[in-house]
Amino acid sequence: MVQTIQTISVIGAGTMGNGIAHVFAQNGFKVTLIDVSQTQLDKALATISKNLDRQLSKGNITEELKQTCLQNITTQTSLSAGVKNAQVVVEAATENEALKLKIFKEIDEVAPVDCILATNTSSISITKIAAVTKRPAQIIGMHFMNPVPVMKLVEVINGYATNKKVTQTIVELCKKLGKIPCEVNDYPGFIANRILMPMINEAIYSLYEGVADVEEIDTVMKLGMAHPMGPLQLADFIGLDVCHSILKVLQDGFGNPKYAPCPLLSNMVAAGFLGAKSGEGFYKYVAGSKELVVSERFV
Ligand SMILES: NC(=O)c1ccc[n+]([C@@H]2O[C@H](COP(=O)([O-])OP(=O)(O)OC[C@H]3O[C@@H](n4cnc5c(N)ncnc54)[C@H](O)[C@@H]3O)[C@@H](O)[C@H]2O)c1
Repeated sequence: MVQTIQTISVIGAGTMGNGIAHVFAQNGFKVTLIDVSQTQLDKALATISKNLDRQLSKGNITEELKQTCLQNITTQTSLSAGVKNAQVVVEAATENEALKLKIFKEIDEVAPVDCILATNTSSISITKIAAVTKRPAQIIGMHFMNPVPVMKLVEVINGYATNKKVTQTIVELCKKLGKIPCEVNDYPGFIANRILMPMINEAIYSLYEGVADVEEIDTVMKLGMAHPMGPLQLADFIGLDVCHSILKVLQDGFGNPKYAPCPLLSNMVAAGFLGAKSGEGFYKYVAGSKELVVSERFV
């Protein structure tokens, strides 16, 4: 089945969508990149071009491959026009359950009947998404990691009703992209966030309770556990609002208070201190500087 797949539609041209479109296009697939915002589509194409230039300057790709990759991508602001010829759709729109259910209902009506509909969600139930469509056996999670062109892992998530052949096709498709797929089942947080988020939350609790300062917590995990980045810096990178909402999904999904977000995390999110994207979280971010400076609130 995977040999016949050539046309992919990617919904959402943000951080993840542009990376997903990039890796498919670079591996010879024809990609339609869809977003409600033309500005986002233009930004995504500029980002893909910049990232291809970086690969070119490192000697990882040729100029010819760069051009082929860019030619393989077309953009579209209409969802129905964008998915009508797709063999696989990868949805990477904003992480909002109501929005994703609406998108899946709509694409289920217009995408070809044998088209597989995948979602890149970090935390929303694949089974719930599948239930709003008439093809629950063809709904699956394809959880790429950020930055997509660099990170090897794709968590492939089976919903309750996902057909085994569909899973096999998606696993093979990941391999064609040079990725390493890991198959998991659909329970809150899947594997990646079920393990990562409690660790991040525990790091925030350690700060909140005064066990250690920001730099000390991150240094212990970097040097002691060989993590490339400390958990507080990683939380800033992911976005504190995203961490907060995934912890709520774990807490609600398992009905277990052990996943409740640390009150310090809740306060920071309520105050708009969301990490790198807002300019400040546990660290302070200055445009153009790569220096890691602890936020003065924690000094
Ligand atoms: N950012 C990460 O590190 C990361 C990692 C893994 C998975 N994810 C998941 O990937 C998905 C996208 O995250 P992101 O960080 O790229 O978000 P983002 O905010 O950067 O991009 C989302 C894009 O979706 C578009 N969009 C919103 N509604 C739409 C609609 N109805 N139709 C088409 N496009 C629409 C927005 O205009 C925006 O361009 C989420 O489900 C998120 O949980 C994110």
